[in-house]
Order: sequence, then C-alpha cells, then structure tokens
Amino acid sequence: MDLAGKRIVLGLTGGVACYKAAELTRGLSKAGASVQVVMTRAATHFITPVTMQALSGRTVYTDQWDDRIANNMPHIDLTRDADAIVIAPCSTDFMFKLAHGACDDLLSTLCVARPITVPLMVAPAMNVEMWQNPATQRNAAQLRADGIALLGPDAGEQACGETGMGRMLEPEQLLEEIIASFQSKALAGKRVLLTAGPTFEPIDPVRGITNLSSGKMGYAIARAAREAGAEVTLVSGPTALETPYGVHRINVQTAQQMHDVVLSRAAGNDIFIAVAAVADWRVANASEQKLKKTGAGDVPQLEFAQNPDILAAVAALPDKPYCVGFAAESEKLLEYGEEKRRRKGIPLLVGNIGHQTFGKDENELVLFDDAGHQRLPRADKRTLGRVLVGEIARRLG
Ligand code: C5P
Repeated sequence: MDLAGKRIVLGLTGGVACYKAAELTRGLSKAGASVQVVMTRAATHFITPVTMQALSGRTVYTDQWDDRIANNMPHIDLTRDADAIVIAPCSTDFMFKLAHGACDDLLSTLCVARPITVPLMVAPAMNVEMWQNPATQRNAAQLRADGIALLGPDAGEQACGETGMGRMLEPEQLLEEIIASFQSKALAGKRVLLTAGPTFEPIDPVRGITNLSSGKMGYAIARAAREAGAEVTLVSGPTALETPYGVHRINVQTAQQMHDVVLSRAAGNDIFIAVAAVADWRVANASEQKLKKTGAGDVPQLEFAQNPDILAAVAALPDKPYCVGFAAESEKLLEYGEEKRRRKGIPLLVGNIGHQTFGKDENELVLFDDAGHQRLPRADKRTLGRVLVGEIARRLG
C-alpha cells in the first residue's frame, strides 16, 4: 500500500469542496494511511464531523479548547507524530491565515505549531474571482516561499455556477499528489519520454494485428517518474488504462506513428524508456475498404513490411537521451537480453523474466548494463516502476 503506516492530519476549512474530503479520507485510508481529521467551524457547515469520524474511524477535532485531549494541547498532540498535514479544501481565508501565521482556531494553530519537518500541503478551493484576487495571489506566493506545497487549484466548473481557476483537485488527484510527496525526487528537473502499450497495425479499416501488452508496466514507470519529479511524456498505443496523474499522454496506433511522435520529441529529453511492445511488422498491403469473404476457402494474402526500430533510432541520435529498452523473451533471456542491449546501442536493458507478464499486475525483472546483469525481486508493477526509476536515476548520477 502506497501510504502504509503514514499518519496524515487532514484539515477541512469552509467550502463546498468539503464533500470531496470525504472521498479523500477513504482514499487515504485505503492506501494504508491513518487519517486524523481536524475541521474549522466553517467546515462543519458543509459536512458534519460525524461523517468525517465515521470515514476516518477517529475522533474529529474542531475546537482548540477540546478537553478530550489529556493535556488540553491538541495543537501539539495532533502534530508531533504526523507525517504530513493536508488542508483540503483550503479556503481563501485560511490561505490568508497560513500566510500570516494566524493562530485563532485549532487548525490554524496546529499548522503554525507543527514541527518544521512535517510537510504542509494545501488544496485551494474557491470561486475564480477569489482565487484571482491579488491578495489571494500574494498569499499563495507567500505560502510557496514558506515551503508549503500548493496542490492545484484546477480550472473548471464551480459550485457557484461560474467557470475558471479555483476548483479543488479531485480526490484521486490529491491522493496521487500526497503519495508522490513521500517519494524521493531523484528525477527532479529531468524530462522523460516513454513508450508503452501495444501497437495496432491495420489489415483493413476494422481489423488489425496487435499483441497482449496491457501497458501496465510502462504506465507504472511513467507514474513513478512523475512522482520522482520528472516532466513525463507518455506515447501510448491503445490501452484501457487511465493516464497517470500529471503525465502528458499522446495516443498513437501504429508503430510508424509511435516512431514519428517519439522522434519529433526525443531531443530535449534526458531519458527515453521504450516499454511499448512494438509490432515488428506492419501489413504492407492493408486495404482501404473492409476485406470481403468472396467464397469458401478463399483467404486474403497479407504481405508484411518491417517497422522502424524506435529505440535503435533514438539511441543513434547525436544528442540522444539516456536510453532504456525492454525485452520479453520466451527463452534464453540472459543471453538474448545482453545481445539485444549491445545491438540497440543502449546503456540499460530491462528483461521480463518469463514472457507471461502481459496484462498481469506483478512482474519480475532483470537489468542488463555494462556491469553485467542484476535481478530485481518479484513485485507489483507500481513498486517495480519506482525501483526502476531509482535504478535509472542512480546510473544517471
Ligand atoms: O527488438 P525487440 O522488439 O525485441 O526489442 C524490444 C525493445 O525495443 C523494447 O524496448 C521496445 O519498446 C523497443 N522496440 C522499438 N521499436 C521497435 C521494436 C522494439 O522501440 N520497432
């Protein structure tokens, strides 16, 4: 679980987006975190402490003078063993309070009283005019300068009926941001380009040749690279997966399209990771119209042409990024893996141990580089994505 053992203080301030805090609490709990909810008086007008208590499984605190805490110092007690404090939703007024260090209720006081090592994240939620107001923008700048992370806001439809900047991020997006905040920033400032998923090579307008790649491994690496602080572009063949939060995704179908998109963007990237299961051949005589059955025993004659090798093409660029390839072999992985790494001219190749990995949530990998090969313990693909990003970052120095 991504947040196993983490203790999160979740602060709610006044705003319609309080209803999203209920979903966020569930998400945090499901991810393994314990959630301690603290609400301002205004927040209790939007959602009740009873609901938040039921969802978090813990007493909800709303009052600085709450005598349920033995020493009567909830602002100290609730922050000393916290791993992070998240204010969601964070109102205009609460941003002002944070920017000025106000301590006029329990939530503002505990933010000021938190040890400086406890990260504070705020998810602004307000009307577009309130967000754009110069005073709010001054406060936002002050929060950033004070090392407080602003999660969002997003643009979109607002509860008041207006449209614009100020919408709170969705609970799943906030969850991704919170999970990412606990990951090392080993790729901060780096640009990463990836391919993932299968390709689809048309036979006619309704038929084609593809493979069993689900895209899960590539998407997990894209997510991990983004968590590690990189700016990530994912060039994806057809998959049923959701785009990882914060990742720029470009959809393609064929190997040729994937090649063209990758080569038009490769320059300027620090790392290229080719995870896609690219079709080696395309149908050279694909039909523009649907092929018709003409009679018993009559079969179309397909001709094949070789697709460009995207990874080899990127690895041959004069200002090439650090290139990482994948291999799925049905036999002799150790022999073929090293041979493939050399043939493609890349510093790191990742071998799937067993080619039955397609579509599964778990995987087992072996890394090939100049120093030889190294097996990684079997794990779920999300975990492996992070391990791999760590390995790549380490090799980049
Ligand atoms: O040559 P092979 O397909 O076995 O190599 C696999 C590696 O090369 C993977 O990283 C895959 O994404 C990449 N590849 C590519 N373009 C191709 C074929 C494979 O980028 N046409």
